[in-house]
Amino acid sequence: MNSCIAPSVLAADLARLSEQVEQVVRGGADWIHVDVMDGHFTPTITFGSPLIRALRRITDLPLDVHLMVEQPERYIEEFAAAGAGIFTLHPEATIHLQRHLAAIRNRGMLAGVAMNPGTPLGLLEEVVDDVDLVLVMTVNPGYGGQGYLPASTDKIRRIRALLDARGSRARLEVDGGITRATIRTAWEAGADTFVAGTAVFGAQDPAQAVRELKTECTSEA
Ligand code: DX5
Ligand code: ZN
Repeated sequence: MNSCIAPSVLAADLARLSEQVEQVVRGGADWIHVDVMDGHFTPTITFGSPLIRALRRITDLPLDVHLMVEQPERYIEEFAAAGAGIFTLHPEATIHLQRHLAAIRNRGMLAGVAMNPGTPLGLLEEVVDDVDLVLVMTVNPGYGGQGYLPASTDKIRRIRALLDARGSRARLEVDGGITRATIRTAWEAGADTFVAGTAVFGAQDPAQAVRELKTECTSEA
């Protein structure tokens, strides 16, 4: 599977959003990652559907929406209508996980499950056929700019093994602390989709930063 880079606009200069998105598109970004936080599941509050709608007008790239909110199912319809392409929720924040994954697909979006560092893999086994993407949090959610948790690497390996054993074609995305120094470790462990906030938008040249991350996760590197 081709690797996919998803810059997170959490780290972008929102006063120059369209310019920043244009820069990462020029660098070869595959998706745009949007971190939705509600001040309950995470300490901070970030964005809602108005930002998704704005991004939809700026770019044709898939919008990879990561919901760090309680009861994320409340937003399936609203975010689909706003133009989200991937809707990823946390099982820690909801009860009827399988039902909501089915609803996301029914609404025409890819369905993702995101797992906090402390969340065991077991529940993924129960819904593996219902997911298009598994997002492994490689930091505890809430803020950009944190360091990659080393224990994540083994978790990525175990999820890769589970997906392969079950014949799943779901993407395996990592999110948090992904930089030029950590991306290759995650890729070698089996991740194929990489969220990067600070490493891209904190760089002098975001387009070049995307290109550099890409070179770390190809077989030729
Ligand atoms: C963290 C968010 C991440 C964040 C990553 O809670 O889910 O997507 O934007 O930021 P960096 O790449 O700076 O760790
Ligand atoms: Zn995220």
